[in-house]
Amino acid sequence: MILVTGGAGFIGSNFVLDWLAQSDEKVINLDKLTYAGNLRNLSSLSQDSRHIFVQGDIGDSSQVSQLLAQYQPRAIINLAAESHVDRSIHGPADFIQTNILGTFRLLEATHAYWRELDSTAKQNFRFLHVSTDEVYGSLAKNEPAFTEEHCYQPNSPYSASKASSDHLVRAYHHTYGLPVLTTNCSNNYGPFQFPEKLIPLMIVNALTGKPLPVYGDGQQIRDWLYVTDHCSAIRRTLEAGIPGETYNIGGWNEKPNIEIVQTICALLKESYPDTDFHSLIKHVDDRPGHDRRYAINATKIERELNWRPAETFASGIRKTIHWYLNNQQWVTDVQTGAYQEWISKNYAGLP
Ligand code: NAD
Ligand code: TYD
Repeated sequence: MILVTGGAGFIGSNFVLDWLAQSDEKVINLDKLTYAGNLRNLSSLSQDSRHIFVQGDIGDSSQVSQLLAQYQPRAIINLAAESHVDRSIHGPADFIQTNILGTFRLLEATHAYWRELDSTAKQNFRFLHVSTDEVYGSLAKNEPAFTEEHCYQPNSPYSASKASSDHLVRAYHHTYGLPVLTTNCSNNYGPFQFPEKLIPLMIVNALTGKPLPVYGDGQQIRDWLYVTDHCSAIRRTLEAGIPGETYNIGGWNEKPNIEIVQTICALLKESYPDTDFHSLIKHVDDRPGHDRRYAINATKIERELNWRPAETFASGIRKTIHWYLNNQQWVTDVQTGAYQEWISKNYAGLP
């Protein structure tokens, strides 16, 4: 079996669902259930004995050690993290706690477990750490996309904490020989994404006639990858990646934010032809330290692991919008008081 951390979050729940749709290998899912973790994402697995959910913290070494001893997983996929840049600007402490100290404690427990495995199990074991392209910093418009050799230049508390965790993972390979893999992926979108991130926030605001807050001039560029493509890249890296190597994962799909928002407005109009969604777009103050552009060169994973995304942005964004239109109860359920507090804090002044 495998141990997935953060498997009740956006990418984690997609990963667990995708994994169990393709394989009967059991998944232990360790998740703290922060505001971003949601067991409703996994309700289709509630009667499925292949999925074992455990509420807990990756930073709780004794709980992690006990889980490892009990279930003897052959691999750990580490997705648990604080993941939202804007929240890291308002309050970086949780990011340091989970992304740095939590990863450190998870590595410690994993190392102690791995050291005692027999030689075949030891050789076959993998610790796959899921990271982000944001560790590489910001690119100017005409600079080449990030390769795995690009130096780390994180600019936000979020990306600095992820960079830190990547370095720890690297060090456990270099120093102790732990068979680690690191993936650095671009911006994901798709079902179950918490509506604090750009794409789901724009969809849910548009559907309730609220302003669509575009930071600054909206010309910041991100590379966008449909979440199930990220899941297939993680599976493939786990299967064939070389321990100690890092793999950039991207969608070959760079777009300025304003174009993403306009596309969402245009697609929503297909379902609601009488509504003028474009008029809801509102430029607001820019994010402090806002990275201008991220771009991923994903040729290494294509060349060495034969992975390429299956979705285009055109197909992925349609699927995403349909999912949000068909799952409005899920949206209502996640918009709790804590969510409203976050929206008032980050978008003060917007109606
Ligand atoms: P998310 O915020 O939706 O989910 C994170 C999950 O981790 C939640 O279920 C939360 O409860 C859990 N968690 C948080 N702290 C924990 C702790 N201390 N112990 C156990 N569980 C904890 O995040 P996501 O968007 O699904 O991202 C998952 C991973 O992928 C993160 O490591 C993130 O840095 C990385 N990543 C995300 C993107 C993206 O666009 N979303 C892109 C590249 C990489
Ligand atoms: P986000 O989804 O938060 O991901 P990240 O910051 O990790 O790239 O934001 C994506 C882009 O959209 C980023 O350039 C910030 C911008 N953005 C807005 O313009 N308005 C918003 O309300 C949000 C949440 C993001």
